[in-house]
Amino acid sequence: MTENRQKVDIRPNETEEEKKNNLRPKRISGFIGQDNLKSNLQTYIISSDKRNINLDHIILYGPPGLGKTTLAHIIASEKNVNIHSTSGPAFTKKGDLVTLLSNLGDGDILFIDEIHRLSPIVEETLYPAMEDYKCDYIIGSGPSARVMQISIEKFTLIGATTRLGLLSRPLRDRFGIPLQLNFYNPNDLNEILQLTSKKLEVVIDENASLEIAKRSRGTPRIAIRLLKRIIDFSIVDEVNKINYEIVVKSLKKMRIDSEGLDDMDRKYMKCISIDYNGGPVGIETLSAALLEQKDIIEDVIEPYLMQRGLVQRTSRGRVLSKKKGKNILSITYNAKNIF
Ligand SMILES: Nc1ncnc2c1ncn2[C@@H]1O[C@H](COP(=O)(O)OP(=O)(O)O)[C@@H](O)[C@H]1O
Ligand SMILES: [Mg+2]
Repeated sequence: MTENRQKVDIRPNETEEEKKNNLRPKRISGFIGQDNLKSNLQTYIISSDKRNINLDHIILYGPPGLGKTTLAHIIASEKNVNIHSTSGPAFTKKGDLVTLLSNLGDGDILFIDEIHRLSPIVEETLYPAMEDYKCDYIIGSGPSARVMQISIEKFTLIGATTRLGLLSRPLRDRFGIPLQLNFYNPNDLNEILQLTSKKLEVVIDENASLEIAKRSRGTPRIAIRLLKRIIDFSIVDEVNKINYEIVVKSLKKMRIDSEGLDDMDRKYMKCISIDYNGGPVGIETLSAALLEQKDIIEDVIEPYLMQRGLVQRTSRGRVLSKKKGKNILSITYNAKNIF
């Protein structure tokens, strides 16, 4: 075991959240990939700086783990403003949002994660706040109830969602800057893995990190998680440097196949392929058959399989692509020495 490697473990007081934040790039220059998004975002930031105004409201959308939360914090650092972070389900009543809005300073960013999960009444409170920086609230109850209007400071709302389609039309229309995050290519993920390894103070071969990158479902969060687990395997095996062999061996133990698919992906594809003869299968049926929540299937499992062209969503349900989907399933199950 190298001296460097030991440093990974000697931070007993650091919480999981703090560790995550340390791995998060702080500036746009440290954010890898998503070139088109970054270049547009930089333009909007520079323009707002030149005019000395706040950024328009931003909605970040895309599958989990692609960098939405990271980007929200990067935007705050680039604009050099405070960021208040919260999430859609955290608001149980309208008053919670009113209190938060009235505490915002001029130019502050309000980041609402999972914004598609705001209740309709809380959502309606946001409309005048976003448009006119005003907020209505009711004092008292019954006949003596009065509607008060308060002014709030000019702020920028950044919303993040895995599903833009679930946002109501009026809310969606109030975001002047929509930014979509796409799955990453292996080269970008490789760069993220190399940078993360340096931060974690571990040495990893280029072909080893590239192999992890290829099997990370286009997702930085998965790439980083796999890297951390592979570090565990290499520590136990007393391998000093993470090489291609330990990567392949560890991924096999974690049951990640050569395509980066895991047990859940295979179970999903097998269910459509074998139990439902290739589909179409409705989402409710799949959810019951796989004992998995609908949201997880739609947000976590399906987007990548669809992007790879393995599965299609049709009006009658999910269908496994005859060529690609069946091929991949058979590769996974028939290849020697995989599982
Ligand atoms: N483009 C990127 N460059 C470097 N690291 C990234 C990038 N995108 C995501 N990450 C890392 O991946 C992890 C997940 O990102 P996060 O912002 O939490 O995703 P999301 O909010 O979309 O679910 C974080 O640890 C983050 O540092
Ligand atoms: Mg997030």
